[in-house]
Amino acid sequence: MSTGKKWYQDAVVYQIYPLSFMDANNDGVGDIEGVIQKLDYIRDLGATAIWFSPLYPSPWKDYGYDVADYKAIHPAFGTMEDFDRLMAECRKRGIRVIMDMVLNHTSDQHPWFRAALADPKSKYRDYYIIRRGRKRLGKLLPPTNWTSCFTGPAWERIAGTDEFYLHLFAPEQPDLNWENPAVRAEIADVLKFWLDKGVSGFRFDVFNLWSKVWPLRNDRHPLRVQKGSNFFVDGPRMHEFLRELNTNVLSHYDSYTVGESYMPDPEHAQRYIHAESGELDSIFDFAHLTSDNLLGLKFFPKPFSLRQFKRGLFDPQIRYFDTGWNTLVLENHDNPRSVSRFGIPARYRYEAATLLAAITFLGWGTPFIYQGEELGMTNADFRSLDEMRDPVSHFVFDTMTKQFHMPAGIARRFICCGARDHARTPMQWDDTVNAGFNTGAEPWQCLNGNWREINAKRDLASDKSVYRFYQRLLAFRRENPAALGGAVREYHPADPRRVIYAREGEGRRFLVMANFSAHETLCRVPDDFDPARLRVALSNAGRERVMRSMLLRPYEAVVLEERGE
Ligand code: GLC
Repeated sequence: MSTGKKWYQDAVVYQIYPLSFMDANNDGVGDIEGVIQKLDYIRDLGATAIWFSPLYPSPWKDYGYDVADYKAIHPAFGTMEDFDRLMAECRKRGIRVIMDMVLNHTSDQHPWFRAALADPKSKYRDYYIIRRGRKRLGKLLPPTNWTSCFTGPAWERIAGTDEFYLHLFAPEQPDLNWENPAVRAEIADVLKFWLDKGVSGFRFDVFNLWSKVWPLRNDRHPLRVQKGSNFFVDGPRMHEFLRELNTNVLSHYDSYTVGESYMPDPEHAQRYIHAESGELDSIFDFAHLTSDNLLGLKFFPKPFSLRQFKRGLFDPQIRYFDTGWNTLVLENHDNPRSVSRFGIPARYRYEAATLLAAITFLGWGTPFIYQGEELGMTNADFRSLDEMRDPVSHFVFDTMTKQFHMPAGIARRFICCGARDHARTPMQWDDTVNAGFNTGAEPWQCLNGNWREINAKRDLASDKSVYRFYQRLLAFRRENPAALGGAVREYHPADPRRVIYAREGEGRRFLVMANFSAHETLCRVPDDFDPARLRVALSNAGRERVMRSMLLRPYEAVVLEERGE
């Protein structure tokens, strides 16, 4: 059993999207100084590590996921001295720092790519994937028919030539050629740079796209939505590349890695994190976040299925138990806000935010909490596409309206279901100008219109504080060995309304019971528990008494802890 021996097994990670967190110098974008001002808020919540979405210099075509220099800080966020001060302030509070590593691609403004384009003989040419196009009936076609994860062709023509470069995301994000040992050496060097500065680990962005199937060729599958994905997801050298990074760098530090995987195959997923593979410590498995959309396509909603959600949430906790380590996630900068999805009516915001926390973050694995989630921040009510800064919202809108001739109003509705913009509105700190994000400069991304009702100051003063519920939940987790390392047992996985699971370890047991519906629902304490020996450890409905059968209110969640003999 995993007993919490490694530091990250007891950690609670708070994700910061720096652009939208806190703008201390009032220029419209968040900054490092802003983060420093809010470190006590993060520590008091119970977080013990921060994952920063990219802080590096970048033209922000994908808001930092297009890196122009892996070893520096974006001037809008501050300087390297500011970052060092941030590290020192984190250290004082017992908070570790995890950096985002975007290594599948760079920005097209990265000096490597600029050099590659400037001189066809440059050694940097082979840092990227550049190929001659195919001539068909006098027309020049891209080297393969692959499509980008952001829609459209995955190849961009290099002006004035017959050559194209591969970009699995935006055209401004050229893919690195991991086959080239010089590229891998550069990457190892980047990781060393940050580890030597004292960071504790990395989140690897879309890591399972690093290895492509060579030679590159057309995807002949007639129906595959993501053309070419069979040639670039979980490619043949993935495991080798990860092991190499470990041997050369990671194993020399007490570091933690979490891989963000793109539609991973379960067998590969298992290998990536198997304790004996020497690859990654954990991955993000987002299967439960596809329970209210079609085929994982965020923009196409379908009625929420609690069964599917539970399968996605609990399967990895059972599958990886004993052999690897798991992560627990509801939100990040790429997903809509959790209280605004899964069929949850807006009036149950507090209940749902706390229920979701109880059923997710008391599971087996390291919790990852996304900024604002601890306040029950909601999706924004965007009035037009102009208010949305994420290029993906615009790419998808263009594809829907131009390629599929969908009326603009309908396309906009689809975009609003899944847009990443919802998670990227500025943090709502208080009810002063711009929700306290700054002192009045127009934020880079508009605020969510509900900031006067939902903000940290108001939440903390309320009887129904989501933040305080999180605090209690994380304290319970910290103090209860069963919550850290205990095995998970789920009851009634097919039940469409109830979520019931137990954790058991080191002689301790507790039970989580939740009514994931807008109707009162009778929930029964499973027979292997004696209600007389259970006490309410946490409740989002003021419940105090335990009975064998309890009528749970809409979105009520209760955590019952077993007392000793
Ligand atoms: C990851 C990031 C996302 C980014 C993409 C390309 O999915 O989380 O924000 O757009 O990779 O780097």
